[in-house]
Amino acid sequence: MTRVLSGIQPTGDVHLGNFLGALRQWAIDQHTHDSFYTAVDLHAVTVQQDPLELRSKTLETMATLVAVGLDPEVCTLFVQSHVPCHTELSWLLECTVSFGELRRMTQFKDKSAKQSDSGQEHVSAGLFTYPALMAADILIYDADRVPVGDDQRQHLELTRDIAERFNSRYGETFVLPEAAIPKIAARVMDLQEPTNKMSKSSESPMGTVGIFEETSAIAKKFKRAITDSENQVRFDFEAKPGVTNLLSILGAATDRDPESLADEYHQYGPLKNDTAEAIITVLEPVQNRRAELLADPAELGRIIARGAEKASEVAVVTVQRAKDAMGFLSAG
Ligand code: TYM
Repeated sequence: MTRVLSGIQPTGDVHLGNFLGALRQWAIDQHTHDSFYTAVDLHAVTVQQDPLELRSKTLETMATLVAVGLDPEVCTLFVQSHVPCHTELSWLLECTVSFGELRRMTQFKDKSAKQSDSGQEHVSAGLFTYPALMAADILIYDADRVPVGDDQRQHLELTRDIAERFNSRYGETFVLPEAAIPKIAARVMDLQEPTNKMSKSSESPMGTVGIFEETSAIAKKFKRAITDSENQVRFDFEAKPGVTNLLSILGAATDRDPESLADEYHQYGPLKNDTAEAIITVLEPVQNRRAELLADPAELGRIIARGAEKASEVAVVTVQRAKDAMGFLSAG
């Protein structure tokens, strides 16, 4: 069976972009692939985190993964830092990737620019080497397929380049992974600034829809979504980013083609209402399930411990293979 791996940072609040672009795809993939999903806490600390908050967000993220339908009996759900060989492999890959390749990563350029603009002098070295850790997360499970939103495409390309270079230097060691980017909602946009992607770090709270927000707040955000003055419903991102974003969200929530949905609407009001309603229908069971899980920390603890064990069994084998290939002397 082919392997799948993907991850989400346990920071901020999980939003509609994460949910439609990634998490829903994970829940489908678990039934057809040997799947590994992780809360990437080691990635989160590339920017400074409050320790108490990191701990509680990591737990909440694990509850979220179960709540969106990931079944710990079917797939492996784990916290990244519980499998220490990720950082070990990351070092080997940092020595495989070049400074120039890391410098070209748009996520690093955007995040470091944002930090400097907000007056933060400190851009961590971890933020720069982040893609090597992400490559390690993927390559350590021999993943064939990596379901992600469009913003991770460049990191996936770099992961393939790193794997290819390693294999050609040291012999076949890693599987070359493919990004699996959904056809609809691969890039959910901010409801207030529809030319920017919806993001946890956005300064636009009305533009970002958290999946655990109260349903009345979600409805209000859709009602106030920015459209345009044309009052014509058409799927055309260049000319009508706001309307096109709503059609994509509605399409993703109802499993329908966003372009043909456009024919059913003549005014923006009903499109906004139906999109809000469709999203709320999908999110309500997820919200209820997460509340139940957070009320049962013992069960969540068991899921997390079992996931760490299952993920480690696979990861140690790959790291050893990579170390052997590179010529590290074995201890025994
Ligand atoms: P993160 O935590 O930023 O996002 C988690 C997932 O959500 C997707 N996503 C979106 N999809 C559509 N529209 C949006 N507006 C949107 N915003 C976010 C992301 O593409 C991602 O799939 N570097 C990764 C985490 C990571 C990872 C990995 C992913 C670490 N190791 C290994 C895959 C494989 C990140 O920061 O995702």
